[in-house]
Amino acid sequence: MAKRTSGCFLLCLLFSGQVIQILGITVGINYGQIANNLPSPNRVASLLRSLNISRVKLYDADQNVLSAFINTDIEFVIGIGNENVSTMTDPAKALGWLQQHVLPHLPFTKITCITVGNEIFKGNDTVLMANLLPAMQSVYRGLVSLGLDKKVNVTSAHSLDMLGNSYPPSAGSFKQDLAVYIQPILNFHSMTKSPFLINAYPYFAYKENAGTVSLDYVLFEPNAGVTDALTNLNYDNMLYAQIDAVYAAVRAWGYPDIEVRISETGWPSRGDSEEIGATPENAAKYNGNLLQRIAMKQGTPMNPYVPVDVYVFALFNEDLKPGPTSERNYGLFYPDGTPVYNIGLHGYLPPMLSSSFKMVPALSTLGIAIVILLLA
Ligand SMILES: *[C@@H]1O[C@H](CO)[C@@H](O)[C@H](O)[C@H]1NC(C)=O
Ligand SMILES: *[C@@H]1O[C@H](CO)[C@@H](O)[C@H](O)[C@H]1NC(C)=O
Ligand SMILES: *[C@@H]1O[C@H](CO)[C@@H](O)[C@H](O)[C@H]1NC(C)=O
Ligand SMILES: *[C@@H]1O[C@H](CO)[C@@H](O)[C@H](O)[C@H]1NC(C)=O
Repeated sequence: MAKRTSGCFLLCLLFSGQVIQILGITVGINYGQIANNLPSPNRVASLLRSLNISRVKLYDADQNVLSAFINTDIEFVIGIGNENVSTMTDPAKALGWLQQHVLPHLPFTKITCITVGNEIFKGNDTVLMANLLPAMQSVYRGLVSLGLDKKVNVTSAHSLDMLGNSYPPSAGSFKQDLAVYIQPILNFHSMTKSPFLINAYPYFAYKENAGTVSLDYVLFEPNAGVTDALTNLNYDNMLYAQIDAVYAAVRAWGYPDIEVRISETGWPSRGDSEEIGATPENAAKYNGNLLQRIAMKQGTPMNPYVPVDVYVFALFNEDLKPGPTSERNYGLFYPDGTPVYNIGLHGYLPPMLSSSFKMVPALSTLGIAIVILLLA
Protein backbone atom coordinates (compact mmCIF):
# COMPACT_ATOMS: atom_id res chain seq x y z
CA MET A 1 0.00 0.00 0.00
CA ALA A 2 2.75 2.42 0.99
CA LYS A 3 4.59 1.57 -2.22
CA ARG A 4 1.50 2.23 -4.34
CA THR A 5 0.92 5.55 -2.65
CA SER A 6 4.45 6.74 -3.28
CA GLY A 7 4.22 5.51 -6.88
CA CYS A 8 1.08 7.52 -7.36
CA PHE A 9 2.67 10.47 -5.65
CA LEU A 10 5.51 10.37 -8.17
CA LEU A 11 3.16 9.97 -11.12
CA CYS A 12 0.96 12.75 -9.86
CA LEU A 13 3.97 15.00 -9.44
CA LEU A 14 5.25 14.16 -12.90
CA PHE A 15 1.96 14.59 -14.70
CA SER A 16 0.00 16.72 -12.25
CA GLY A 17 -2.96 14.42 -12.90
CA GLN A 18 -5.64 13.52 -10.39
CA VAL A 19 -5.10 11.36 -7.33
CA ILE A 20 -6.38 7.86 -7.85
CA GLN A 21 -8.98 6.24 -5.67
CA ILE A 22 -10.79 3.28 -7.15
CA LEU A 23 -14.38 2.62 -6.15
CA GLY A 24 -16.24 -0.51 -7.21
CA ILE A 25 -19.58 0.49 -8.67
CA THR A 26 -21.82 -0.98 -11.30
CA VAL A 27 -23.46 2.23 -12.35
CA GLY A 28 -23.55 3.31 -15.98
CA ILE A 29 -22.70 6.79 -17.18
CA ASN A 30 -23.81 9.01 -20.05
CA TYR A 31 -20.83 10.24 -22.05
CA GLY A 32 -22.29 13.32 -23.75
CA GLN A 33 -19.99 15.34 -25.97
CA ILE A 34 -21.74 18.66 -26.68
CA ALA A 35 -18.62 20.58 -25.67
CA ASN A 36 -15.42 21.98 -27.17
CA ASN A 37 -13.09 21.27 -24.25
CA LEU A 38 -13.40 17.56 -23.47
CA PRO A 39 -10.40 15.26 -23.11
CA SER A 40 -9.66 12.83 -25.94
CA PRO A 41 -11.53 9.50 -25.86
CA ASN A 42 -8.24 7.71 -25.06
CA ARG A 43 -7.85 9.75 -21.90
CA VAL A 44 -11.52 9.29 -21.03
CA ALA A 45 -11.07 5.53 -21.35
CA SER A 46 -8.33 5.72 -18.69
CA LEU A 47 -10.50 7.92 -16.47
CA LEU A 48 -13.42 5.47 -16.62
CA ARG A 49 -11.17 2.48 -15.98
CA SER A 50 -9.72 4.22 -12.93
CA LEU A 51 -13.29 4.76 -11.69
CA ASN A 52 -14.25 1.13 -12.34
CA ILE A 53 -17.18 2.34 -14.44
CA SER A 54 -18.06 -0.51 -16.74
CA ARG A 55 -21.10 0.76 -18.64
CA VAL A 56 -21.19 3.81 -20.89
CA LYS A 57 -23.98 5.36 -22.94
CA LEU A 58 -23.32 7.46 -26.03
CA TYR A 59 -25.79 9.55 -28.03
CA ASP A 60 -24.27 8.49 -31.33
CA ALA A 61 -21.85 5.85 -32.60
CA ASP A 62 -18.71 7.98 -32.44
CA GLN A 63 -15.98 6.04 -34.21
CA ASN A 64 -13.21 7.68 -32.16
CA VAL A 65 -14.82 6.78 -28.85
CA LEU A 66 -15.62 3.19 -29.82
CA SER A 67 -12.06 2.64 -31.09
CA ALA A 68 -10.54 4.16 -27.94
CA PHE A 69 -12.36 1.55 -25.82
CA ILE A 70 -11.15 -1.43 -27.83
CA ASN A 71 -10.33 -4.46 -25.64
CA THR A 72 -11.75 -2.85 -22.51
CA ASP A 73 -14.53 -4.58 -20.58
CA ILE A 74 -16.70 -1.50 -20.85
CA GLU A 75 -20.19 -2.14 -22.28
CA PHE A 76 -21.65 0.45 -24.63
CA VAL A 77 -25.12 1.68 -25.37
CA ILE A 78 -24.85 3.60 -28.64
CA GLY A 79 -27.47 5.83 -30.25
CA ILE A 80 -29.13 6.79 -33.49
CA GLY A 81 -30.05 10.49 -33.24
CA ASN A 82 -33.61 11.75 -33.83
CA GLU A 83 -32.44 13.35 -37.08
CA ASN A 84 -31.57 9.90 -38.45
CA VAL A 85 -34.58 7.93 -37.23
CA SER A 86 -36.70 8.41 -40.35
CA THR A 87 -33.84 7.25 -42.60
CA MET A 88 -33.60 4.03 -40.58
CA THR A 89 -37.15 3.01 -41.50
CA ASP A 90 -35.53 1.84 -44.75
CA PRO A 91 -34.19 -1.66 -43.94
CA ALA A 92 -31.28 -1.31 -46.40
CA LYS A 93 -30.17 1.94 -44.76
CA ALA A 94 -30.46 0.41 -41.29
CA LEU A 95 -28.36 -2.57 -42.36
CA GLY A 96 -25.83 -0.21 -43.94
CA TRP A 97 -25.61 1.77 -40.71
CA LEU A 98 -25.00 -1.41 -38.71
CA GLN A 99 -22.34 -2.56 -41.15
CA GLN A 100 -20.58 0.79 -40.95
CA HIS A 101 -20.99 1.70 -37.27
CA VAL A 102 -21.44 -1.50 -35.27
CA LEU A 103 -19.95 -4.47 -37.11
CA PRO A 104 -16.35 -3.13 -37.30
CA HIS A 105 -16.22 -2.70 -33.50
CA LEU A 106 -17.51 -6.11 -32.46
CA PRO A 107 -16.41 -8.02 -30.49
CA PHE A 108 -13.42 -5.82 -29.55
CA THR A 109 -15.58 -3.01 -28.19
CA LYS A 110 -18.62 -4.38 -26.40
CA ILE A 111 -21.72 -2.77 -27.91
CA THR A 112 -24.75 -4.30 -26.15
CA CYS A 113 -27.57 -1.91 -26.98
CA ILE A 114 -28.69 0.58 -29.64
CA THR A 115 -31.12 3.37 -28.77
CA VAL A 116 -33.15 4.56 -31.73
CA GLY A 117 -34.02 8.21 -31.01
CA ASN A 118 -34.14 10.11 -27.72
CA GLU A 119 -37.33 11.50 -26.09
CA ILE A 120 -39.28 11.43 -29.36
CA PHE A 121 -42.66 11.63 -27.58
CA LYS A 122 -41.67 14.79 -25.73
CA GLY A 123 -41.80 16.72 -28.99
CA ASN A 124 -44.77 17.24 -31.28
CA ASP A 125 -43.42 15.65 -34.47
CA THR A 126 -46.04 12.99 -35.17
CA VAL A 127 -44.29 11.83 -38.35
CA LEU A 128 -41.19 11.09 -36.28
CA MET A 129 -43.34 9.33 -33.65
CA ALA A 130 -44.89 7.15 -36.34
CA ASN A 131 -41.45 6.37 -37.79
CA LEU A 132 -39.93 5.25 -34.51
CA LEU A 133 -41.20 1.67 -34.42
CA PRO A 134 -40.48 0.95 -38.13
CA ALA A 135 -36.93 2.27 -37.55
CA MET A 136 -36.47 0.05 -34.49
CA GLN A 137 -37.78 -2.92 -36.49
CA SER A 138 -35.38 -2.25 -39.38
CA VAL A 139 -32.41 -2.04 -37.03
CA TYR A 140 -33.54 -5.23 -35.28
CA ARG A 141 -33.95 -7.11 -38.59
CA GLY A 142 -30.52 -5.89 -39.64
CA LEU A 143 -29.07 -7.36 -36.44
CA VAL A 144 -30.89 -10.63 -37.11
CA SER A 145 -29.41 -10.85 -40.59
CA LEU A 146 -25.94 -10.21 -39.14
CA GLY A 147 -26.50 -12.82 -36.42
CA LEU A 148 -26.17 -10.18 -33.70
CA ASP A 149 -29.75 -9.94 -32.38
CA LYS A 150 -28.93 -11.94 -29.22
CA LYS A 151 -25.87 -9.80 -28.49
CA VAL A 152 -27.28 -6.31 -29.09
CA ASN A 153 -30.64 -4.96 -27.86
CA VAL A 154 -32.69 -2.43 -29.81
CA THR A 155 -34.65 0.17 -27.86
CA SER A 156 -35.35 3.92 -27.55
CA ALA A 157 -34.99 6.36 -24.62
CA HIS A 158 -38.18 8.08 -23.49
CA SER A 159 -39.04 11.13 -21.44
CA LEU A 160 -41.22 10.70 -18.35
CA ASP A 161 -43.57 13.21 -20.01
CA MET A 162 -45.11 10.30 -21.87
CA LEU A 163 -46.97 9.40 -18.67
CA GLY A 164 -50.44 10.92 -18.33
CA ASN A 165 -50.57 9.93 -14.67
CA SER A 166 -47.67 9.05 -12.37
CA TYR A 167 -49.25 9.28 -8.92
CA PRO A 168 -49.73 7.13 -7.01
CA PRO A 169 -47.09 4.93 -8.72
CA SER A 170 -49.43 1.93 -9.01
CA ALA A 171 -51.85 4.09 -11.03
CA GLY A 172 -49.14 5.11 -13.54
CA SER A 173 -50.44 5.28 -17.10
CA PHE A 174 -49.32 6.53 -20.50
CA LYS A 175 -50.99 9.50 -22.19
CA GLN A 176 -54.01 8.14 -24.05
CA ASP A 177 -53.14 9.96 -27.30
CA LEU A 178 -49.77 8.16 -27.41
CA ALA A 179 -51.36 4.70 -27.20
CA VAL A 180 -51.33 4.28 -30.97
CA TYR A 181 -47.50 4.55 -30.93
CA ILE A 182 -46.54 3.09 -27.57
CA GLN A 183 -48.70 -0.03 -27.51
CA PRO A 184 -46.96 -1.54 -30.60
CA ILE A 185 -43.56 -0.44 -29.27
CA LEU A 186 -44.23 -2.36 -26.05
CA ASN A 187 -45.18 -5.32 -28.18
CA PHE A 188 -41.81 -5.02 -29.95
CA HIS A 189 -39.95 -5.02 -26.60
CA SER A 190 -41.88 -8.05 -25.44
CA MET A 191 -41.19 -9.98 -28.66
CA THR A 192 -37.48 -9.06 -28.83
CA LYS A 193 -36.86 -9.20 -25.05
CA SER A 194 -35.36 -5.72 -24.94
CA PRO A 195 -35.63 -3.17 -22.12
CA PHE A 196 -37.86 -0.07 -22.01
CA LEU A 197 -35.70 2.98 -21.23
CA ILE A 198 -36.75 6.18 -19.50
CA ASN A 199 -34.96 9.41 -18.68
CA ALA A 200 -36.13 10.33 -15.17
CA TYR A 201 -35.29 13.59 -13.39
CA PRO A 202 -36.83 14.16 -9.94
CA TYR A 203 -35.00 17.51 -10.17
CA PHE A 204 -37.59 18.80 -12.67
CA ALA A 205 -40.47 17.87 -10.37
CA TYR A 206 -38.72 19.57 -7.47
CA LYS A 207 -37.86 22.73 -9.42
CA GLU A 208 -41.44 23.18 -10.57
CA ASN A 209 -43.03 22.50 -7.16
CA ALA A 210 -40.34 23.47 -4.68
CA GLY A 211 -42.99 24.65 -2.22
CA THR A 212 -44.76 21.29 -2.01
CA VAL A 213 -42.19 18.59 -2.89
CA SER A 214 -39.86 17.60 -0.03
CA LEU A 215 -36.19 18.10 -0.88
CA ASP A 216 -35.19 15.12 1.30
CA TYR A 217 -37.63 12.93 -0.65
CA VAL A 218 -36.10 13.83 -4.02
CA LEU A 219 -32.48 13.63 -2.74
CA PHE A 220 -32.73 10.14 -1.14
CA GLU A 221 -32.20 11.70 2.31
CA PRO A 222 -33.95 10.26 5.38
CA ASN A 223 -37.67 11.16 5.30
CA ALA A 224 -41.05 9.63 6.12
CA GLY A 225 -41.72 8.86 2.48
CA VAL A 226 -44.98 8.66 0.60
CA THR A 227 -47.33 5.70 0.83
CA ASP A 228 -49.19 4.48 -2.25
CA ALA A 229 -52.72 4.07 -0.84
CA LEU A 230 -53.65 1.47 -3.47
CA THR A 231 -50.76 -0.93 -2.70
CA ASN A 232 -49.66 0.25 0.74
CA LEU A 233 -46.08 0.39 -0.55
CA ASN A 234 -43.95 3.14 0.97
CA TYR A 235 -41.64 5.22 -1.25
CA ASP A 236 -38.75 7.02 0.44
CA ASN A 237 -37.60 8.70 -2.79
CA MET A 238 -39.15 10.09 -5.95
CA LEU A 239 -36.98 8.25 -8.48
CA TYR A 240 -38.28 4.85 -7.34
CA ALA A 241 -41.84 6.19 -7.48
CA GLN A 242 -41.23 7.34 -11.05
CA ILE A 243 -39.77 3.97 -12.08
CA ASP A 244 -42.72 2.11 -10.58
CA ALA A 245 -45.18 4.45 -12.28
CA VAL A 246 -43.61 3.43 -15.61
CA TYR A 247 -43.77 -0.27 -14.63
CA ALA A 248 -47.46 0.21 -13.76
CA ALA A 249 -48.15 1.90 -17.12
CA VAL A 250 -46.33 -0.86 -19.05
CA ARG A 251 -48.14 -3.61 -17.11
CA ALA A 252 -51.53 -1.93 -17.44
CA TRP A 253 -51.23 -2.44 -21.20
CA GLY A 254 -50.50 -6.11 -20.69
CA TYR A 255 -46.72 -6.48 -20.61
CA PRO A 256 -45.62 -7.86 -17.23
CA ASP A 257 -42.35 -9.18 -18.70
CA ILE A 258 -40.76 -5.92 -19.94
CA GLU A 259 -37.84 -4.58 -17.92
CA VAL A 260 -37.70 -0.82 -17.24
CA ARG A 261 -34.26 0.79 -17.06
CA ILE A 262 -33.15 4.37 -16.41
CA SER A 263 -31.24 5.68 -19.41
CA GLU A 264 -30.67 9.08 -17.75
CA THR A 265 -30.95 10.55 -14.30
CA GLY A 266 -28.96 13.26 -12.57
CA TRP A 267 -28.96 16.62 -10.85
CA PRO A 268 -27.39 19.91 -11.98
CA SER A 269 -24.75 21.54 -9.76
CA ARG A 270 -25.51 25.05 -11.04
CA GLY A 271 -28.47 26.86 -12.52
CA ASP A 272 -30.01 30.23 -13.26
CA SER A 273 -31.60 32.08 -10.34
CA GLU A 274 -35.04 30.62 -11.10
CA GLU A 275 -33.68 27.05 -11.28
CA ILE A 276 -34.36 26.26 -7.66
CA GLY A 277 -32.31 23.44 -6.17
CA ALA A 278 -29.49 23.42 -8.75
CA THR A 279 -26.55 23.53 -6.30
CA PRO A 280 -23.39 21.45 -5.81
CA GLU A 281 -24.65 20.35 -2.36
CA ASN A 282 -27.91 18.97 -3.78
CA ALA A 283 -26.18 17.38 -6.80
CA ALA A 284 -23.69 15.70 -4.44
CA LYS A 285 -26.52 14.33 -2.29
CA TYR A 286 -28.59 13.12 -5.24
CA ASN A 287 -25.78 11.37 -7.11
CA GLY A 288 -23.89 10.25 -3.98
CA ASN A 289 -26.98 8.68 -2.39
CA LEU A 290 -28.01 7.15 -5.71
CA LEU A 291 -24.60 5.48 -6.13
CA GLN A 292 -24.86 4.06 -2.60
CA ARG A 293 -28.25 2.55 -3.34
CA ILE A 294 -26.99 1.07 -6.58
CA ALA A 295 -24.03 -0.44 -4.74
CA MET A 296 -26.60 -2.05 -2.38
CA LYS A 297 -28.37 -3.47 -5.46
CA GLN A 298 -31.69 -2.07 -4.29
CA GLY A 299 -34.88 -2.69 -6.22
CA THR A 300 -37.98 -0.47 -6.16
CA PRO A 301 -40.93 -1.21 -3.80
CA MET A 302 -42.85 -2.84 -6.69
CA ASN A 303 -39.85 -4.96 -7.77
CA PRO A 304 -37.65 -5.32 -4.69
CA TYR A 305 -35.52 -8.06 -6.25
CA VAL A 306 -34.76 -6.28 -9.53
CA PRO A 307 -31.78 -3.94 -8.88
CA VAL A 308 -32.40 -0.47 -10.23
CA ASP A 309 -30.46 -0.06 -13.46
CA VAL A 310 -29.20 3.47 -14.03
CA TYR A 311 -27.08 5.55 -16.39
CA VAL A 312 -26.16 8.75 -14.58
CA PHE A 313 -26.26 11.97 -16.57
CA ALA A 314 -23.51 12.90 -17.11
CA LEU A 315 -19.79 12.26 -17.12
CA PHE A 316 -18.70 15.83 -17.96
CA ASN A 317 -20.13 19.33 -17.83
CA GLU A 318 -20.91 20.14 -21.48
CA ASP A 319 -20.23 23.80 -22.25
CA LEU A 320 -21.98 23.95 -25.63
CA LYS A 321 -25.38 22.64 -24.54
CA PRO A 322 -28.12 25.20 -25.27
CA GLY A 323 -30.81 26.20 -22.77
CA PRO A 324 -30.67 27.32 -19.15
CA THR A 325 -27.42 27.24 -17.13
CA SER A 326 -28.35 23.90 -15.52
CA GLU A 327 -28.08 22.18 -18.92
CA ARG A 328 -24.32 22.80 -18.97
CA ASN A 329 -23.82 21.67 -15.36
CA TYR A 330 -24.98 18.07 -15.00
CA GLY A 331 -21.45 16.64 -15.07
CA LEU A 332 -19.79 14.66 -12.29
CA PHE A 333 -16.46 15.93 -13.68
CA TYR A 334 -15.02 19.07 -15.18
CA PRO A 335 -13.31 18.53 -18.54
CA ASP A 336 -9.92 18.50 -16.75
CA GLY A 337 -10.96 15.39 -14.79
CA THR A 338 -11.48 17.05 -11.41
CA PRO A 339 -14.75 16.18 -9.65
CA VAL A 340 -17.37 18.97 -9.65
CA TYR A 341 -18.22 17.98 -6.05
CA ASN A 342 -16.96 15.30 -3.74
CA ILE A 343 -18.92 12.03 -3.68
CA GLY A 344 -15.88 9.82 -3.34
CA LEU A 345 -15.32 9.45 -7.08
CA HIS A 346 -11.69 10.29 -7.65
CA GLY A 347 -10.63 9.19 -11.07
CA TYR A 348 -7.34 9.50 -12.86
CA LEU A 349 -7.35 11.45 -16.10
CA PRO A 350 -3.96 10.93 -17.74
CA PRO A 351 -2.27 14.15 -18.84
CA MET A 352 -2.35 15.17 -22.47
CA LEU A 353 1.41 14.77 -22.94
CA SER A 354 1.36 11.06 -22.11
CA SER A 355 -0.71 10.48 -25.24
CA SER A 356 1.61 10.03 -28.20
CA PHE A 357 -1.23 10.97 -30.57
CA LYS A 358 -0.84 14.55 -29.39
CA MET A 359 2.67 14.64 -30.82
CA VAL A 360 1.47 14.27 -34.39
CA PRO A 361 -0.43 17.56 -34.64
CA ALA A 362 2.33 19.22 -32.59
CA LEU A 363 4.97 18.06 -35.09
CA SER A 364 2.92 19.02 -38.12
CA THR A 365 2.36 22.49 -36.64
CA LEU A 366 6.11 22.77 -36.23
CA GLY A 367 6.55 21.62 -39.84
CA ILE A 368 4.14 24.26 -41.10
CA ALA A 369 5.94 26.89 -39.02
CA ILE A 370 9.27 25.91 -40.58
CA VAL A 371 7.80 26.02 -44.10
CA ILE A 372 6.39 29.49 -43.39
CA LEU A 373 9.78 30.60 -42.08
CA LEU A 374 11.53 29.27 -45.19
CA LEU A 375 9.05 30.95 -47.50
CA ALA A 376 9.36 34.25 -45.68
C1 LIG B 1 -12.58 -2.56 -9.58
O1 LIG B 1 -12.91 -3.57 -10.52
C2 LIG B 1 -12.04 -4.68 -10.48
C3 LIG B 1 -12.41 -5.59 -11.64
O2 LIG B 1 -13.78 -5.77 -11.71
C4 LIG B 1 -12.15 -5.36 -9.12
O3 LIG B 1 -11.27 -6.44 -9.06
C5 LIG B 1 -11.81 -4.35 -8.03
O4 LIG B 1 -12.02 -4.94 -6.77
C6 LIG B 1 -12.66 -3.11 -8.17
N1 LIG B 1 -12.23 -2.14 -7.19
C7 LIG B 1 -12.95 -1.86 -6.13
C8 LIG B 1 -12.36 -0.85 -5.21
O5 LIG B 1 -14.04 -2.36 -5.92
C1 LIG C 1 -27.67 11.58 -39.76
O1 LIG C 1 -28.13 12.90 -39.91
C2 LIG C 1 -27.11 13.85 -40.14
C3 LIG C 1 -27.75 15.22 -40.14
O2 LIG C 1 -28.85 15.27 -41.01
C4 LIG C 1 -26.42 13.52 -41.46
O3 LIG C 1 -25.36 14.42 -41.66
C5 LIG C 1 -25.87 12.10 -41.38
O4 LIG C 1 -25.32 11.73 -42.63
C6 LIG C 1 -26.98 11.13 -41.03
N1 LIG C 1 -26.41 9.81 -40.85
C7 LIG C 1 -26.95 8.71 -41.37
C8 LIG C 1 -26.25 7.44 -41.07
O5 LIG C 1 -27.96 8.74 -42.03
C1 LIG D 1 -43.88 22.02 -32.26
O1 LIG D 1 -42.95 22.47 -31.34
C2 LIG D 1 -42.13 23.53 -31.82
C3 LIG D 1 -41.06 23.79 -30.80
O2 LIG D 1 -41.49 23.52 -29.51
C4 LIG D 1 -43.02 24.72 -32.10
O3 LIG D 1 -42.23 25.79 -32.59
C5 LIG D 1 -44.06 24.34 -33.12
O4 LIG D 1 -44.96 25.41 -33.31
C6 LIG D 1 -44.83 23.13 -32.68
N1 LIG D 1 -45.67 22.66 -33.76
C7 LIG D 1 -46.91 22.28 -33.57
C8 LIG D 1 -47.61 21.77 -34.77
O5 LIG D 1 -47.44 22.27 -32.48
C1 LIG E 1 -31.20 -7.07 -23.46
O1 LIG E 1 -32.26 -6.69 -22.61
C2 LIG E 1 -32.73 -7.74 -21.77
C3 LIG E 1 -33.98 -7.25 -21.08
O2 LIG E 1 -33.81 -6.05 -20.45
C4 LIG E 1 -31.61 -8.12 -20.83
O3 LIG E 1 -32.03 -9.18 -19.99
C5 LIG E 1 -30.40 -8.55 -21.63
O4 LIG E 1 -29.32 -8.82 -20.77
C6 LIG E 1 -30.00 -7.48 -22.62
N1 LIG E 1 -28.94 -7.98 -23.51
C7 LIG E 1 -27.73 -7.43 -23.56
C8 LIG E 1 -26.79 -8.02 -24.54
O5 LIG E 1 -27.39 -6.50 -22.84
